[in-house]
Amino acid sequence: RRKHKVTVVGSGNWGTTVAKLVAENTKEHSDIFEEDVQMWVYEENVTIPSDSPHHAAVGDKPQKLTEVINTYHENVKYLPKIPLPSNVVANPSLVDAVKDSSILIFNLPHEFIGNVCKQIKGHILPYARGVSCIKGVTVTEDKVELICEYISESLGIYCGALSGANIANEIANELWCETTIAYNTPLCDRRGENGSNGANGEHHRDARGQISKTELTPVPQDYPPADHNELRKLFDRPYFTVSMVSDVVGVSLAGALKNIVALACGFIEGHGWNMTAKTAVMRRGMLETIQFCQEFFPETIQEMTFWESAGWSDMIVSCTSARNWRYSKMAVERGVSLYEVERTELNGQKLQGISTTKEVMSFLKARGVQDKYPLFKAVEGIVDGTFEVKDIPVLFRQ
Ligand code: NAD
Ligand code: 13P
Repeated sequence: RRKHKVTVVGSGNWGTTVAKLVAENTKEHSDIFEEDVQMWVYEENVTIPSDSPHHAAVGDKPQKLTEVINTYHENVKYLPKIPLPSNVVANPSLVDAVKDSSILIFNLPHEFIGNVCKQIKGHILPYARGVSCIKGVTVTEDKVELICEYISESLGIYCGALSGANIANEIANELWCETTIAYNTPLCDRRGENGSNGANGEHHRDARGQISKTELTPVPQDYPPADHNELRKLFDRPYFTVSMVSDVVGVSLAGALKNIVALACGFIEGHGWNMTAKTAVMRRGMLETIQFCQEFFPETIQEMTFWESAGWSDMIVSCTSARNWRYSKMAVERGVSLYEVERTELNGQKLQGISTTKEVMSFLKARGVQDKYPLFKAVEGIVDGTFEVKDIPVLFRQ
């Protein structure tokens, strides 16, 4: 029997953390997965920090990040001080990293996914299955698309979504948390169910729960299936509890939109207000999130999804301890723009809230419904300097 080969596309703070936990599982379940996990690295030169034990060997001479990862088993730039299993293999070639992989885990800032899909189209297995750990949306003209939907459509494969209250550094340090995986198992992967043996191409349910017009290439019979059971074996760790659901829309949008709310909470706290003000903003942010899902994705949205880790838990953790909150607070405290803080303080990491706010607002404006989302609109105004944080309470009187 063949085994699933796994590739993580992306190697930032969360990308590297997910590669670590997945590689621990491929070792434990080596009957199902090939042990080595490919991790595509956007190649760059890095200087090993002077407080690193690896510094003495090379000094301040710039090194290729992939070579550092493969030599020292540490991503010194995006996940420093966390030992990686030696079966995480950093690969600077995107096409080579995804070659022959039957499970592709997409994990990079959402603004780069378009270019990545363009490069790998035609170079992946037709029966590959995807899981997107990306929190964001893509907006084209007046259409908003989930990232996993975009991946599915541009590559012709099924793609689910993983999202939850997950601070990468905590999980990398094996501090317990939970997460949600939304995977609306394609009919053709449910062998033996509905008379399906997976032998013929079948239609499947797309992210919105509709029977897709795209025919999906079935996972060949000599592989283990790629269903909820296998995905749980790939992602679940003693310190990372996976809950499997089918609401891909709810999981994806909750993960994307909470980044807008996290910016608002950072602004609030930077202004000098505290937890009571932040909970008001979180509540309003969740209302606008649910309203957005119901207005634009009414077919499949399940309100219970907001009680999963991907829902309220992620909203709370993002508004109290994640990067979008931390650095928007810093921007207000220092009186500088969020762009400036991202450029000077994040060492290459990205704040997904900035582009998500822009994308969501451009979609709402194209529909003429931006006034129905006052908090999202205010966040855009604050980012652009046209709305003041002190005026946020006015939104609650409308
Ligand atoms: P990051 O912000 O730590 O790192 C940025 C990454 O982008 C680096 O790997 C960098 O090499 C890469 N990059 C830079 N320019 C690029 C280009 N032109 N093309 C392709 N890649 C390029 O990234 P991250 O934290 O791993 O975030 C990935 C996704 O995971 C995001 O959608 C984020 O919202 C989500 N997420 C992050 C966390 C977290 O705690 N970090 C937790 C849950 C979800
Ligand atoms: P940040 O990108 O703001 O750090 O958010 C991480 C996250 O998604 C927490 O669940």
